[in-house]
Amino acid sequence: MLNYTHSIPTVIHFGKGQISKLARSLTPFGNRVLLAYGGGSIKKTGLYDEVMKILDSEGFTVIECGGIEPNPRIESVERGVKLCKENSIDVILAVGGGSTIDCAKAIAAGVFYEGDLWEMVESRHGILKALPLVDILTLSATGSEYDGGGVISNMKLNKKLGNAYTFPAVSICDPTYTFTVSKYQTAAGTADIISHICEEYFSRTPDSDLADGISETVFKSAIKNLPIALAEPDNYSARANLMSISSIACSGIPSYGKDDTGWPCHSMEHELSAYYDITHGVGLAILTPRWMRHILKKDPSCTWRFVRFAKNVWGLDGEDETALALAGIQKLEDFFKASGIPMTLTELGIGTEHFEAMAAHANRGNHLSEAFVPLTNEDIVEIFTACL
Ligand code: NZQ
Ligand code: ZN
Repeated sequence: MLNYTHSIPTVIHFGKGQISKLARSLTPFGNRVLLAYGGGSIKKTGLYDEVMKILDSEGFTVIECGGIEPNPRIESVERGVKLCKENSIDVILAVGGGSTIDCAKAIAAGVFYEGDLWEMVESRHGILKALPLVDILTLSATGSEYDGGGVISNMKLNKKLGNAYTFPAVSICDPTYTFTVSKYQTAAGTADIISHICEEYFSRTPDSDLADGISETVFKSAIKNLPIALAEPDNYSARANLMSISSIACSGIPSYGKDDTGWPCHSMEHELSAYYDITHGVGLAILTPRWMRHILKKDPSCTWRFVRFAKNVWGLDGEDETALALAGIQKLEDFFKASGIPMTLTELGIGTEHFEAMAAHANRGNHLSEAFVPLTNEDIVEIFTACL
């Protein structure tokens, strides 16, 4: 087991009715609030009205920054920073999914960043000085409500880059706000949760019991609760379980004590989104089983890890280790398929034309040579090709 540091400053208020903590979460930071939200789902669901009623009655001054895109763009970050500066904003309130929260994080840091905001997205840095951020989560997926990272896109450059910005001070996680999430986004969000765990579980470290135990519990909870949430969108228990595992899955906790893996599927998926603006979780669901089969074949010394996945997550058994490993991978692919996710790039209209450029960028700095099973650019092109 390797060394690790636990440092997550975010307060989570989890459960039905936790919006009652909204005003007291904002008050310590000041009165002038930038309300960040996406393309309008919060207006359709009534959450916008609920939030505005609280902010009005408690005397907050609200400046709105709506229209933040899924796969949020640098232009939205620039617009938000301008609004914060022009209106002397004290605190940002992000209401939405990972895209809105990520964009709000980059806005919060961008207010203090000297220089070009795309340079902030591209340059290597840790957590930055930032305006305080409070969020209300409406989609269980990314874990942005409980980490310091954000992912911002520049469609002119075909780049989608993750970076560290700031942790939310407070996240209000009420599963009832996810009752309205479409089947497609519910399945994609759960695929993202599963992928976050895969990126940490498939590591060379064999003896971090806490991290592996948490990971297997998250896997099993996702597998149990996604079909229920798809069949009964307002099933509180299913939505609550998906929301709580979403926060833990990308928090870093499931990798405590474990060797870094390079997060290969995320590196590859961000290229698909950067070129084709696809839904993050859908790209991950397509890539993950193909990546698994590729590395299992390339380096059979990793078979033990897939055997554990097949046994502990899927309850499979058998004498032949390779067959068992492949059966676990097949189970995962079938699970994504049964949840309605299109499982090929062809179905998304993606062809081979950018595979080489995407592979080179996914592997920039040759960082995937440090992956669980090291990947070359040629490996990545092969994995993309297997996804067609
Ligand atoms: O924009 P609105 O109108 O709000 O609609 C959204 C959007 O169309 C809709 N939605 C959200 N909550 C809803 C709802 N519709 C009905 N009812 C609700 N309650 O769902 C659509 C997708 O929303 P989005 O925020 O884009 O989804 P998600 O939470 O999956 O976020 C994806 C983004 O997060 C990044 C991804 O790359 C992608 O850009 N990630 C962020 C990470 C992080 N910060 O740690 C890690 C992840 O690996 C990921 O890369
Ligand atoms: Zn993800």
